[in-house]
Amino acid sequence: MPIFAQSTERSLRVSRPVLAPAAVPADPSIFTPKLTRQSSTRRQPAVEPAFAGIEARPFLKWAGGKRQLLPQLLSRVPGAFRRYHEPFVGGGALFFALQARQQLPQGARLSDINPELVNAYQVVRDRVETLIVLLGAFRNEEDFYYEIRAQDPQTLDPVQRAARLLYLNRTCFNGLFRENRDGRFNVPFGRYRNLQILRENDLRAASRALRGICIEQSSFDALADCVEPGDFVYFDPPYAPLSRTASFTSYSRGGFDDEAQRRLGALVRALSARGVHVLLSNSSAPLIFDIYDHPEHLVEQVLASRAINSRADRRGKVHEVLVAAGPHVDSLRRRQASQPLSLSA
Ligand SMILES: C[S@@+](CC[C@H](N)C(=O)[O-])C[C@H]1O[C@@H](n2cnc3c(N)ncnc32)[C@H](O)[C@@H]1O
Repeated sequence: MPIFAQSTERSLRVSRPVLAPAAVPADPSIFTPKLTRQSSTRRQPAVEPAFAGIEARPFLKWAGGKRQLLPQLLSRVPGAFRRYHEPFVGGGALFFALQARQQLPQGARLSDINPELVNAYQVVRDRVETLIVLLGAFRNEEDFYYEIRAQDPQTLDPVQRAARLLYLNRTCFNGLFRENRDGRFNVPFGRYRNLQILRENDLRAASRALRGICIEQSSFDALADCVEPGDFVYFDPPYAPLSRTASFTSYSRGGFDDEAQRRLGALVRALSARGVHVLLSNSSAPLIFDIYDHPEHLVEQVLASRAINSRADRRGKVHEVLVAAGPHVDSLRRRQASQPLSLSA
């Protein structure tokens, strides 16, 4: 039995989750305790939602996710900045870490070129309760998996598309959502026993962290118009391949070729010259040292644990490159002179 009735609505603006009962609250703010009339004189003990103590973290496991590199990234975040931008958001590891540390008082803009990913962020932010109800009906079974995998996201409404992505991401082999060159998801079923498909309080915590955050589908090329001096941008693009056969560049249709890496390098230089704080991660490919070789950049090699290789014998620590540019570079250099920044995970 198909889990979704085929929606006739194709527009992103229309969202009619087929399985959502009428009583499902679409607005996560219902979990914010409300003051009653009585409480204006005598305060009731606050009713904490079940997810109140849960730290928001990535709700998707994404190729190139940065959880392993967080200590090194966090030690290179500027002490103070205006708005935060993450234009290759993926799983958003640094965003969630900064939000948990309350380091984003001036808000943030998250973007990515992948439409399914961006839709999932928007649904988790705006319609988490409907999403939870829908995901609750999903089963970790092989036939069911292939049925969901075969669906064309274009025929689903936004909540259904987000549920499909979260479900495939958790239950697929290796737990990584990766599309092939034609933009199709063709990873086989993961056969994981005792898998919890729905971690509802984690989703609610992520939803709370995303409240008020601007989330857009766009290429990094569009970023220059949205950034002001004093803002902080973290770029985590698809990595330049270390060898021409090891290709980690097909996160999305079209991949990310050398020319795109050079365009990104030019953007980093332009933004830092305008007083924007920039941090970028990439592989230690010669191309990256070439692009970021500039006296005003701080280029460092760090050691990161990488479990992305499907062959266990090829997993382990690899060198990656962090580039800092813009006004915070001076203070990073001063700090580094007195107390070396974290270089390994
Ligand atoms: C290395 S991943 C980011 C991982 C993320 N930092 C994390 O912690 O999970 C790279 C991301 O870049 C996105 N991407 C690829 N080409 C892009 C482009 N031209 N503009 C914006 N995003 C792009 C991919 O969809 C992918 O989500």
